[in-house]
Amino acid sequence: MSHINIECKNLSFGYQKDETLKNINFRINEGESVGIIGENGAGKSTLLKLMTGLHMNFKGEIRVEDVLLQKSTLPFIRERLGYIFQDSDNQLFMSTVYDDVAFAPLNYGLSKEEAEKRVDHALSEVNGMHLKQRRTHQLSGGEKKMAAVATILSMLPDILLLDEPSAALDPRNRRNLIRIVNGFSHMKLIASHDLDFIMDTCSRVILISNGQIIKDADTISILTDQKLLEEHGLELPLSLSRR
Ligand SMILES: Nc1ncnc2c1ncn2[C@@H]1O[C@H](COP(=O)(O)OP(=O)(O)O)[C@@H](O)[C@H]1O
Ligand SMILES: [Mg+2]
Repeated sequence: MSHINIECKNLSFGYQKDETLKNINFRINEGESVGIIGENGAGKSTLLKLMTGLHMNFKGEIRVEDVLLQKSTLPFIRERLGYIFQDSDNQLFMSTVYDDVAFAPLNYGLSKEEAEKRVDHALSEVNGMHLKQRRTHQLSGGEKKMAAVATILSMLPDILLLDEPSAALDPRNRRNLIRIVNGFSHMKLIASHDLDFIMDTCSRVILISNGQIIKDADTISILTDQKLLEEHGLELPLSLSRR
């Protein structure tokens, strides 16, 4: 059996008294590409944050690659997860794109030459070699997103977690990101209400509403179910509603 997997068992969590996520159960295996969909406030971002250990006061269990998420295993787990934030400004904190993309490889102890190879490879992947020496705070929103994706690819993660990845992207960068995501074969989880992006990248969808899993099934059966989507504040993907 493959070692790349994520499992949540009876996972519940609340920021305050109310439960934001209620009794979440799923297992995702290597090679799967899973969309987490739901209306604003459903709990999508919270779910991704819990997997990366940003909030530890949850009930139930989270396992990443069969390792139980707890304080002592956070370094192991974080090294395997490539979490692409919704807001790229939270991901980029060095002065140039090169410094940001080289940060993780250098931190993991690679030599300058090896790190530079990783940087070039990651930037080529996002068609962003021309951004290498640019100052991050001068980039456009879409350029920042591609740079943020490169900072994650340079870590060579096992699992990609993307939170609303298509916000701020123009059509060309959007297509570019779809290509990158589809080229990343290990495992990915994409939280989004952009159902067209999910349609183009995911084979399985987990619909959440009000912190609960409503349905976990193949992408087509969920994204073609107009009644189900509308009941939970969503609409058919544009590519389907035009037909
Ligand atoms: N830091 C926070 N403190 C308190 N409540 C929060 C915080 N972040 C999110 N929430 C609340 O948790 C719920 C789920 O939010 P979120 O996971 O961001 O939803 P989604 O990503 O699906 O839009 C919302 O009701 C939101 O207001
Ligand atoms: Mg969100």
